[in-house]
Amino acid sequence: MEVKTERMIAYCLAAILLVVGVICYAAFAKKVPEQPLRIMFDNTGGNVLFDHKEHMSESGYGIECADCHHDLENEGDKPSACGECHVDDGEDAPKRPDAFHKQCKSCHDEGGGPVNCAECHAM
Ligand code: HEC
Ligand code: HEC
Ligand code: HEC
Ligand code: HEC
Repeated sequence: MEVKTERMIAYCLAAILLVVGVICYAAFAKKVPEQPLRIMFDNTGGNVLFDHKEHMSESGYGIECADCHHDLENEGDKPSACGECHVDDGEDAPKRPDAFHKQCKSCHDEGGGPVNCAECHAM
């Protein structure tokens, strides 16, 4: 009898912990939107390593999401990859490499950061 009760309690505890775990996972996982830390652009000019976290974080260069992700309308939205719109044979939007060069370099021109080919295409 006693063993049965104890086992019952153990099962109940396990079930409760499982539910709590699932709820916590669901609740907290959503609050941390997945943002890439570093992005490696594999391309014919030589690979470019882009430190996404350093560019956006307060302790880094502190740049607003929408300054780069110009498709963002509301804070908290998930931006699309640049290549969704900036395709290689694009007409409506600048072609993919032009879009990157233009955005990366124009900011570096003003705010510091590499502008020479080999400083970005370093890998
Ligand atoms: C200095 C420019 C810059 C800043 C600031 C920036 N990003 Fe990005 N982010 C990029 C670039 C470039 C990519 C790569 C997009 C690609 O591969 O087409 C990217 C990729 C992403 C991706 C992956 C998109 C995908 O589907 O591949 C997410 C999500 C993202 N950024 C979110 C954010 C959020 C949220 C912020 C602000 C907290 C932010 N970014 C700030 C430039 C920036
Ligand atoms: C939802 C589609 C979409 C996404 C996603 C997008 N763009 Fe654009 N982008 C456009 C369109 C359309 C234009 C041309 C019209 C305009 O200037 O708004 C443009 C224009 C630009 C320009 C030229 C602006 C100028 O002043 O000449 C740059 C640079 C650029 N995009 C870079 C990027 C980068 C880098 C990313 C990713 C971080 C990105 N775009 C994501 C659609 C997009
Ligand atoms: C809105 C401004 C802005 C944009 C857009 C931007 N950067 Fe930067 N970047 C900076 C600043 C500021 C620094 C730091 C300069 C310094 O250390 O004085 C930097 C530094 C860098 C560095 C050298 C140090 C490091 O963090 O690795 C690389 C490489 C770099 N950027 C690549 C890129 C690439 C690739 C893009 C486009 C996908 C890009 N950046 C877009 C502002 C920008
Ligand atoms: C601020 C960083 C940065 C600088 C400076 C830079 N690039 Fe790039 N480059 C990039 C990024 C980011 C891409 C996009 C890679 C992709 O499409 O995935 C790229 C793409 C390319 C490509 C492949 C796309 C294509 O057009 O076929 C070539 C080639 C290239 N760059 C050459 C150059 C040359 C030459 C210079 C100097 C005049 C230069 N880059 C300066 C970041 C930079």
